[in-house]
Amino acid sequence: MPAAELHDFAYEDFAGNALHTLLRENRERGPVQPALFGGEPAFLICGHQALAEAFRDNNQFPPADAYRITIEPVQGVTFQTMEGAQHRLYRRLATPAFQSRVVDAMEQDGLARIAHELIDRLGTRRSADFAHDFTHRVAFAVISRMLGIPTDREDDFRDWAVGFLEFPRDPVHSRKCAEQITHYLLPILAERRRAPRDDILSGLVAAEVDGRRLTDEEILAHIRLLFSAGASTTTDALGNLVYTLLAEPARWQALLAEPALRAGAIEELLRWETPVAILPRLSAPRTVVFHGTEIPPATFCLFAIAAANRDPAVFDQPDVFDMHRDSSKKLLSFGPGPRLCPGMHLARRQLAVALDVILERLPGLHLLEPEDAVPRGAILRGPARLAVGW
Ligand code: HEM
Repeated sequence: MPAAELHDFAYEDFAGNALHTLLRENRERGPVQPALFGGEPAFLICGHQALAEAFRDNNQFPPADAYRITIEPVQGVTFQTMEGAQHRLYRRLATPAFQSRVVDAMEQDGLARIAHELIDRLGTRRSADFAHDFTHRVAFAVISRMLGIPTDREDDFRDWAVGFLEFPRDPVHSRKCAEQITHYLLPILAERRRAPRDDILSGLVAAEVDGRRLTDEEILAHIRLLFSAGASTTTDALGNLVYTLLAEPARWQALLAEPALRAGAIEELLRWETPVAILPRLSAPRTVVFHGTEIPPATFCLFAIAAANRDPAVFDQPDVFDMHRDSSKKLLSFGPGPRLCPGMHLARRQLAVALDVILERLPGLHLLEPEDAVPRGAILRGPARLAVGW
């Protein structure tokens, strides 16, 4: 086979089907393929079996190393940037933040309330950029409310959270936004230490590691982690869901007519157009041989979840969006193994509730500029704009 042109997965746009075509061509060549990442030589891991193995192999692919470069300087030290026993300990400690009563309460009626409020804000308009007005707001509002941030400061908080995620592209702005989050949360944290409430901040204040309480900085770092791991991912999943359903109006009509299909549509979306399409890891600081390929020390290995989710060895007719497919056990979208996404339950609920509310309130929703609305990006992948009418 002729040598393939190498693509840079850090920079290119990969609009719409371009990403999936490129990933299919790579996967057909073999499970580990050369690529570029940020101008540096890298490897793409794109077969389902190989990727499921790589996710579980923390020796050859230690997860924390990449996060230490890409996010820790601005997010702070969290269990995401720890390994082994320390990762497990801190993860257990912070996990109640994802599964506590606060999350349950949010699921009961908080999620629907946020979706209704955002649609109320559309007022009497008949068209909008649904990304700007809805899909880019829901997940940030969910986390802000779980933290107990006053609703009138939610938009500021969202801007800071989006800004701090600009690291490493814009380190100055990113640091400034992270400081604004700190400045805003410190007095609330002090307040929760004096008078705990039923919220995530109070849970983190009360948590103990090895008999010691977390410091303010440790708590703030874990709050920033909630935004970096939980907000943009769910935002893009929701954007991809709305785009995918509206791009083929028959899908939208089917979900209006048969609500029982909605859960299947969400699972299929998570397979077919998952928001974390590629997850960058660094290989171990020694030469690694993986599926016959020699990988030099500390090389970026791009975990191509979007490629594995369409591997024909595992999924029949993988390029077909099929709401009746049962693929949940084979999905790699939430990263199997010790790093399995602790927010996946919350993410699925957000998608389900938002979809129900949109279908109920805006049944005539349709795309006005389909070509502009396609998902873009490779690391995080979603539509930048969704011009819709209703
Ligand atoms: C559709 C939405 C989501 C997707 C596709 C997603 C995907 C992922 C993936 C692939 C990982 C594994 C990363 C790795 O192996 O390095 C992960 C980890 C993580 N996710 Fe999610 N996620 C989503 C939503 C959320 C939400 C809503 C939260 C919390 C509010 C969250 C919090 C986290 C955290 C804290 C980790 C780090 C786990 C660890 O390092 O042990 N995620 N997620």
